[in-house]
Amino acid sequence: MALRSHIVGCGAYLPDRVVANAELAQSLDTSDAWIVERTGIHQRHIAAAGEFTSDLAAAAARAALSHAGLAAGDIDLIVLATATPDRTFPATAARVQAKLGMTRGAAFDVQAVCSGFIYALAVADNFVRVGQARTALVIGAETFSRILDWTDRGTCVLFGDGAGAVVLRATAAEPGGAGILSTHLHSDGRYEDLLYVDGGPSSTQTVGHLRMVGREVFRHAVTNLAAVVGEALAANGLTADAIDWLVPHQANQRIMDSTARKLGLPAERVISTVARHANTSAASVPLALAEGVRDGRIRQGQLLLLEAMGGGFTWGACLARW
Ligand code: ACO
Repeated sequence: MALRSHIVGCGAYLPDRVVANAELAQSLDTSDAWIVERTGIHQRHIAAAGEFTSDLAAAAARAALSHAGLAAGDIDLIVLATATPDRTFPATAARVQAKLGMTRGAAFDVQAVCSGFIYALAVADNFVRVGQARTALVIGAETFSRILDWTDRGTCVLFGDGAGAVVLRATAAEPGGAGILSTHLHSDGRYEDLLYVDGGPSSTQTVGHLRMVGREVFRHAVTNLAAVVGEALAANGLTADAIDWLVPHQANQRIMDSTARKLGLPAERVISTVARHANTSAASVPLALAEGVRDGRIRQGQLLLLEAMGGGFTWGACLARW
């Protein structure tokens, strides 16, 4: 029997503290008007001192499990996407496993920066489809506030902290049935210098800060996302008009508008949270998904297109029927 991963629950967590653009403008040469016009961002959530990526992840995971009506003991795999782990090792996924009180199964991290959730989803989906896992927790969780250079106005205004999670369950693959239809991953390591962190255990023995050539990243994002979205549709013999909801990585409203425009999708069919969350890297897609599900926009039987692009460069897409 062919298996498919059914997304049976989703959840989100955002730290309490909200930092509006105006607050950043008190200590930086920037303005609310500049940030809103160039990015669509109005505010971001910032983790409290002592609140770690694993805390955000565990909170989102609990919400997803509750939504799915499952307990931690039902899970046999955790794949967690993050570029901001609590520690260099162990994997943040293993810390989340302990926080959930889960003592069996496997837990590991995936690192593909802003595309991390799509990568983690693809990995978990493959485990489920070959029968190596039956119920998997896929989490995107980040505390980017910890790797920002808060004196660099070109980067620090763009990011926020948060976590989102989904629960996958193996089900029989049926034509037109719910579940993940396909995932598509790409990377091209030649562009590292355009988006990276200038630290790391092997190179500098420091954590480092995020560095980015924003304009160039923007250009590559628009091209790569259009390509992978086209690939996902073609692989399933679908055209863009079949998509009910585009659930994009929330880097910048202008990048999302450009992808939607290329697909011919109206803004009403794009889930956008960037205004309130900013760019939460690997957390942004599951945060947007959880919001669309919670507020009732995403309904059973609808076709979703998830996509993301990030440092590496990495990029990817996933087509799923809700
Ligand atoms: N406030 C005021 N002025 C600023 C700010 C700021 N926060 N940041 C930069 N500027 C200035 C620059 O210094 C520059 O000034 P100059 O002309 O005097 O040199 C001017 O604004 C234009 O700078 P650009 O970087 O060319 O501005 P651009 O229109 O490209 O917008 C931005 C910058 C918003 C970063 C844009 O390039 C972008 O969104 N790129 C995508 C990057 C991204 O989203 N990365 C996230 C990670 S990867 C991903 O998730 C896809």
